[in-house]
Amino acid sequence: MQAVIFEQPGNAEAVLAVRDILSPVPGRGQVLVRVAARPIQPADFLFIEGRYRITPAFPQTAGLEGAGTILACGPDVTGLEPGMRVAFRAPGAWAEFAVAPTSRIYPVPPGIPDAIACQFALNPLTAWGLLSECDLPASSRVLMTAGRSVVARLLAKLAQRKGLSATLLVRDGAGYAVLEGDTELTIASGKSVDEALQGIVDKGRFHAILDPVGGPNTLALIDALEPGGRLISYGVLDDAEISLKASRILYKNMIWQGFGVDGWLNKTTSEQLTLAQRELWGMLSEHPDLLPVTGSFALSEVREAIRAARETHRPGKVLLVD
Ligand SMILES: NC(=O)c1ccc[n+]([C@@H]2O[C@H](COP(=O)([O-])OP(=O)(O)OC[C@H]3O[C@@H](n4cnc5c(N)ncnc54)[C@H](OP(=O)(O)O)[C@@H]3O)[C@@H](O)[C@H]2O)c1
Repeated sequence: MQAVIFEQPGNAEAVLAVRDILSPVPGRGQVLVRVAARPIQPADFLFIEGRYRITPAFPQTAGLEGAGTILACGPDVTGLEPGMRVAFRAPGAWAEFAVAPTSRIYPVPPGIPDAIACQFALNPLTAWGLLSECDLPASSRVLMTAGRSVVARLLAKLAQRKGLSATLLVRDGAGYAVLEGDTELTIASGKSVDEALQGIVDKGRFHAILDPVGGPNTLALIDALEPGGRLISYGVLDDAEISLKASRILYKNMIWQGFGVDGWLNKTTSEQLTLAQRELWGMLSEHPDLLPVTGSFALSEVREAIRAARETHRPGKVLLVD
C-alpha cells in the first residue's frame, strides 16, 4: 500500500517520504480501515518532529486520525463489522490502510461526509472533553485563546449550547483582539494579550480559560481569571519557558490543569463518550462549517499538502484524501 513515512524525527518537509509498504494486519481488539480522508493537524507536525506525547516507532507512518470503511476486524472485536464507516484515531493514518483499536473508533452517522468525519476523533472530542472538565454552571464566562482555531470555534458553539458566555482571544495584525463568541465582533483590543484583556476584565473576569498557546502570555491569562477559576493548558503553540511565583496561583485559589485528549478518553466512562458522540455528530450535521476544509491533496502530493497546511490565517484544514 502507499504510505507517508518517516525514518527519523524532524521537519515534515525534510523527513516525510511516500513509499510502498506492507498493509498492517489488525490484532486483538483492532480493526483494519480503508482510509478515505485524513486532516493535517498541529499534532501531526509535533508527532513527526518527535515532540508529541505519542512516540514514533521507525519506520513510522505519519498521521494520527482519519475516516474510512472497516475492511476487517481482528479477534475479540464486537459491535463493529466490515463495511461500517468510521472515524478513528491511531498513528499511521497517512496510508491507504490503517489499524486502530476499537476504543478509538467512532461510527459515522449516515449523511456525514468524509471531510467532516475524518476530523471527528481529535478536535470535536477535545472541545467536548475540555468543557466537561470545566463543569461550569450556565451563564459562566469562558475565554478561548487561539480563538480562530477549529477547537476554539467548536468550544464557542458547545459553550453557547450550554448557556455559557463565550469569548475568543485572537492574534490580530501587530496585536491581539477579544471577540464576542456569538457574533465574533471585536469587544477589546491591544498591543499585548495583557492590554487586550484589560479592556474587558473590568466587566468581569473569566470562570474558565482554555489555552492551547502557553508561553509568557499565560501570566496575563491567570490575571484574567476569577478567584477559584480554572485555566486549562491543552496545546504548545508557544511552548516558551515562563517564570511564575506560586503566589500568583495560590492567592487566586485557582486550578491550573493540563489536558491531553488521550488521557481524557482513557478516564472517560462509556456513557460519557456515547453522550459526547451523540451531541457532537448532531452539532456537526447542523453546522458542518465548524470543520472547514481549505484544500484536498492525494497522499502522493503530501509535500504540497504540508506547504498548504503551514500557511498562517488558513481558514480551514488541509486534507489528504484516498
Ligand atoms: N490537548 C489535546 O489533546 C489537543 C487536541 C486537539 C488540539 N490540540 C491543540 O489545540 C490547538 C488548536 O488546534 P486546531 O486544530 O484547532 O488549530 P488550527 O485550526 O490549525 O488553528 C491554529 C490557530 O492557532 C493560532 N496560533 C498559532 N500559533 C500561535 C501563537 N504562537 N500564538 C497565538 N495563536 C497562535 C493560529 O492563529 P492565526 O490564525 O493567527 O494563524 C490559528 O488560529 C493546537 O495547539 C493543537 O495542538 C490539543
